[in-house]
Amino acid sequence: MADLSVSLNRLKLKNPILVASGTFGYAKEMTAFVDFAELGGIIPKTVTPQPRPGNPPPRTVETASGLLNSIGLDNDGFDQFVAEKLPGLLKLGTSIIVNIAAKAMDDFHRMAKVLQGVPGIAGIELNISCPNVSGGVDFGTDPVMAAEVVSAVRSSCDLPVIAKLTPNVTSVVPIARAVADAGADAVSLVNTFQGMAIDWKKRRPILGNVLGGLSGPAIKPLALRIVWQVSQAVPVPIIGIGGIQSIDDVMEFLLAGATAVQVGTANFYNPGVGNQLVRELPEALARLNASTPSEVTGKLEIPAKG
Ligand code: SIN
Repeated sequence: MADLSVSLNRLKLKNPILVASGTFGYAKEMTAFVDFAELGGIIPKTVTPQPRPGNPPPRTVETASGLLNSIGLDNDGFDQFVAEKLPGLLKLGTSIIVNIAAKAMDDFHRMAKVLQGVPGIAGIELNISCPNVSGGVDFGTDPVMAAEVVSAVRSSCDLPVIAKLTPNVTSVVPIARAVADAGADAVSLVNTFQGMAIDWKKRRPILGNVLGGLSGPAIKPLALRIVWQVSQAVPVPIIGIGGIQSIDDVMEFLLAGATAVQVGTANFYNPGVGNQLVRELPEALARLNASTPSEVTGKLEIPAKG
């Protein structure tokens, strides 16, 4: 069997195909469709220190080749997640990367300390990039604040730390650099692009929150560009995210500089897509005369100009 394992500093995965937070629930909903143990890992829906009802409906709308969501981090809270969801997730035979968000550093400290005490967690992904909640969960738009969150979590636990960054800034590079310097093992690039949808006949925005985050194939070229730009500037492992639905998409993200990828929106219409990509990966690697994903990561060849 092919060795598809990848290392992102301290985070080791059996293969580079992960499922993205918010697109897979807490996995239970997917039992009938997915071979969990075959996946590189699962990132469950973001949890916050306290339960959150999320934003008013409608909270999703389909757009051309994309999906706008304004969920607003709807979740039952960290303590309930740890007590009721995490034990089941940790029995699935794949890496579980817990995704957390908060408005205060103390909350990041507390959650990281609790997670440190739960055996079997592969890592923590910091959602510092949600476009749908105002008032401080979007630390990822500021390099200093983003680094502070990473430092808070690093000082509270020994688990690998991934910072999930926003594309809704002029350049992601300074933020990636700041979180890498603060000790992030990897960065996830990228969360959704802020957007909106309008029902012109009613003169109203479609989403209850007015604005939302765009994901799906519509954002793939934008995400690829950011992965490539960050990979050229910052020596930190990258997890690519943005409209991945086929093995071609996976290979493009690897070449652009990603060590692993997350499949997001595609899970909604093809929950087995992650399994399919794991199975197709060896043959795609072989087409580039490679047998491991790391032989392809960042190996894009840019023709000389002139
Ligand atoms: C949400 O819950 O609003 C989506 C999560 C995110 O974009 O980070």
